Amino acid sequence: MMLAVQDLEVRYGGITAVRGVSIEVAEGETVLLVGANGAGKSSLINAVIGLVPASRGSVRFAGADISAMSCDGRARAGMGYSPEGRRVFATMSVADNVLSGACGRGGAAQREAWSWLCGLFPILQERADQPAGQLSGGQQQIVALARAMSSFPKLLLLDEPFLGLAPVWIAQISEAIRHMQKRGTTILVTEQMARPALSLATRGYVLRSGEIRRSGTASEIRDVALAEEYL
Ligand SMILES: Nc1ncnc2c1ncn2[C@@H]1O[C@H](COP(=O)(O)OP(=O)(O)OP(=O)(O)O)[C@@H](O)[C@H]1O
Ligand SMILES: [Mg+2]
Repeated sequence: MMLAVQDLEVRYGGITAVRGVSIEVAEGETVLLVGANGAGKSSLINAVIGLVPASRGSVRFAGADISAMSCDGRARAGMGYSPEGRRVFATMSVADNVLSGACGRGGAAQREAWSWLCGLFPILQERADQPAGQLSGGQQQIVALARAMSSFPKLLLLDEPFLGLAPVWIAQISEAIRHMQKRGTTILVTEQMARPALSLATRGYVLRSGEIRRSGTASEIRDVALAEEYL
């Protein structure tokens, strides 16, 4: 199993955001985590990448228990992460934003990542020296996704990559995700709006109030996942 989350609990003071959640992502799979506002999607993803501590449970990555590993350590071990709200470093250039995901790697590896990503997303080359904060929402999401991809991660964690984007950007980002799938990358993606993500996922989990309500193949969870959008 590439990722195995067992009986995870995430608390913020008195609030329990994730309660007793277990999920698995096998190598090469794309798994969707779907749920309404406040369902606990980001809390779960952030516990996997190590940005928030788990108050209970374990996270295993490629067979090793990484529950006590730092966020940096998890990134070095092969996790790439694109945060919710396409967070970019607004005053840093597009190129520096993208390569900040590959820092710690050698210059040659960084140049390889940059030319590969520019081939995928020509906008990166065109805007390389521009502050990322000046880009449109869709363009910023490309930068955030490219940053997560720049370390050639084994496991790509995407927190609501489609949120608030126009269809043209949803299509571009879907295309990039398909490209990562073809490379054999394992992906865990969260979404509130399930439709575009369901077409990319092999399997999924429906999260409500911090608990798994349904799990199964993309077609098995489809109805429940789409109903969740209207809660
Ligand atoms: N830093 C925090 N401090 C306190 N409560 C928090 C914090 N972050 C999240 N929460 C609470 O934890 C619960 C789960 O939030 P979370 O952000 O994980 O949900 P989500 O599914 O990602 O929602 P969204 O679709 O809005 O991104 C919510 O009740 C939220 O208010
Ligand atoms: Mg969230």
